[in-house]
Amino acid sequence: MIFVDTCFKKQSEYKPVWMMRQAGRYLPEYMAVRKSVSNFLALCKDYKKASEVSLQPVEILDVDAAIIFSDILVVPLEMGMGLKFIQGEGPVFDKTISSLDDIKSLNENCVNKLSYVYEALSLTREKLPLNKALIGFCGSAWTIATYMIEGKGSKTYAKCKKILYTDPELLHTLLEKINSVLKLYLEEQIKAGADVIQIFDSWASALEKEAFFNFSFKYMQELASCIKSKYPHIPIIIFPKAITGFLDEISGDFDVFGVDWATPLKLAKEKLSPRYVLQGNLEPCRLYSKEAIKIGVENILNEVKNLPHIVNLGHGILPDIPVENAKYFVKLVQGKI
Ligand code: CP3
Repeated sequence: MIFVDTCFKKQSEYKPVWMMRQAGRYLPEYMAVRKSVSNFLALCKDYKKASEVSLQPVEILDVDAAIIFSDILVVPLEMGMGLKFIQGEGPVFDKTISSLDDIKSLNENCVNKLSYVYEALSLTREKLPLNKALIGFCGSAWTIATYMIEGKGSKTYAKCKKILYTDPELLHTLLEKINSVLKLYLEEQIKAGADVIQIFDSWASALEKEAFFNFSFKYMQELASCIKSKYPHIPIIIFPKAITGFLDEISGDFDVFGVDWATPLKLAKEKLSPRYVLQGNLEPCRLYSKEAIKIGVENILNEVKNLPHIVNLGHGILPDIPVENAKYFVKLVQGKI
């Protein structure tokens, strides 16, 4: 499988391409399925429908991989935190984590409760052409913890950082608990058919350097090591967003580093160890204009000409992107126009 080979640095005939958040609202076919269920989580839990929308981008855009349709927040949900996705506001939990008792109340033995994710993976792998990869994923312990502590998305992460600087051991206790669930969760995803794993650390950028390495990267690295020791043939992609300043100190048991759109690929190439393959990093808003896509793709392909590389956006696709432009992006990378 060329996607997997590329993750392992093997030269291949073409550069695989996919898009973060590719199964989503910009696709009318996604909206049709989305309207048939009462809410977003109901779609995640309906494994047949989740599989159907995971396959849509492969069928419609001919991307080289499907990412399983789910969310990083199903993990805290099944650890016992009530979750709602509110239109215009995003995810909101029915409680927040602020004490040791709160952490103790979280259910660590929740991996079986996530069976809808594994069922969606099995069905998707069954239906996916053999030359297309299936990506399983999770959030990093830090990124998941930010939602559990703040109760929703945050601009300042003040509650998280207050704990980080006043009671670091409490934060470590929470991160350890989340990570122990993630280890089993990713294992189950691999057993169900995931060919590749991506760990999203979307809020890595909230942390200063020392805090990033102690509270985020340490756990991501431990998770990657654990999976690698058991499943060395499964490539691991990490996506710690916007940590441009610390790239030269990144090292761990992963294969691919996802470069966000604000980090120049040239800089990532210079700063990161050459043992990692890069993924990325078209600015997602370039997808509003074909001309902007053309220039962006040319820049990326020039930068990685002779290197194994996975082409992607530098963060998720936005809901109002014209499908035609997303198709244009994929075709351009594939040299079909
Ligand atoms: O196509 C894919 O990439 C697979 C599915 C996927 C979703 N969320 C579906 C989704 C993946 C990989 C995620 C990851 C995720 N979820 C992250 C990390 C990646 C990133 O974008 O930084 C984060 C931080 C979340 C948490 C989350 N989920 C937020 C903040 C929101 C609301 C914001 C929004 O875009 O509406 C979600 C909801 C969500 N997750 C939607 C989708 C398709 C939209 C809900 C809907 O369709 O009604």
